Amino acid sequence: MLKNRSLIDPMDFTTEELEDIFKLANLIIENPKEYKHICDGKILATLFYEPSTRTRLSFETAMMRLGGNVVGFSEPNSSSVSKGESLADTVRVVSNYADIIALRHPLEGAAKVASMYATVPVINAGDGGHQHPTQTLTDLLTIKCEKGSFNNLTIGLCGDLKFGRTVHSLIKAMSRYKNNKLVFISPKELKIPHYLIEDYLDKNNIEYRSEEDLENAIPDLDILYMTRIQKERFDDIDEYNRLKDVYVLNNEKLKNAKKDMVILHPLPRVNEIDPEVDSDNRAKYFKQAEYGMYVRMALMAKLLGVM
Ligand code: CP
Repeated sequence: MLKNRSLIDPMDFTTEELEDIFKLANLIIENPKEYKHICDGKILATLFYEPSTRTRLSFETAMMRLGGNVVGFSEPNSSSVSKGESLADTVRVVSNYADIIALRHPLEGAAKVASMYATVPVINAGDGGHQHPTQTLTDLLTIKCEKGSFNNLTIGLCGDLKFGRTVHSLIKAMSRYKNNKLVFISPKELKIPHYLIEDYLDKNNIEYRSEEDLENAIPDLDILYMTRIQKERFDDIDEYNRLKDVYVLNNEKLKNAKKDMVILHPLPRVNEIDPEVDSDNRAKYFKQAEYGMYVRMALMAKLLGVM
């Protein structure tokens, strides 16, 4: 039962529970009209302490498409946060106004803290460089719809693997599926945190290797998951400037890729995918953003217990 639960970490739900969410997302995709009143009278609060386009707007449109309403802030300085109100007090109060909360915060662990004080379900919409579980639901639904399975895939994760929370969450989630190979493509300064290797890949016997060269890695891949170098997480801007264009996917590099490779990116992108790639039929990152709205519709319907 997902009713009244929070989603803080991608491992909070079992694979069966995730499957239920994906099944509902697919039903909504097939027949959205059927679901347009299931959240009548429900209110989502979006508390965004960090900038967002996709996550906040897809949550908000998801709730509206289910018949519900939305309150919240996208700029914490327009709320009493600017007067020094704590996160704990904010979510306690908002729990009286809304039925469910989606929270983005720059501090790792903030969503967990919020869920301890809120009396309604809290969804982690990104906590610092830590986790982004609804992006993972988005990525998994995209993989399911575009590749048909979560197994027997070689997945390249490219770019900022140190600070990229979407990658951290996706690695955790993929560690539960079998016969996949992960290829970590990053400069040595932006390698994947070791705890993910030790706690999720080694423990589950997941095969992985590291590469610094995207061109070397590309021919083997079924999925290439590109990521942005996370400027906002760097202490040293010179280091960011040195690394920011280390990987740029373009049509030339795609010549050696499989014809059915799927290119994903959580977005926003900066320079890491040349816009010329957008018209390649393997480019699925805008479709991925659309899947994100449907999977958030399914997630909220389940947490609110209306489906
Ligand atoms: N993918 C993602 O989290 O995008 P936003 O930062 O625009 O929400």
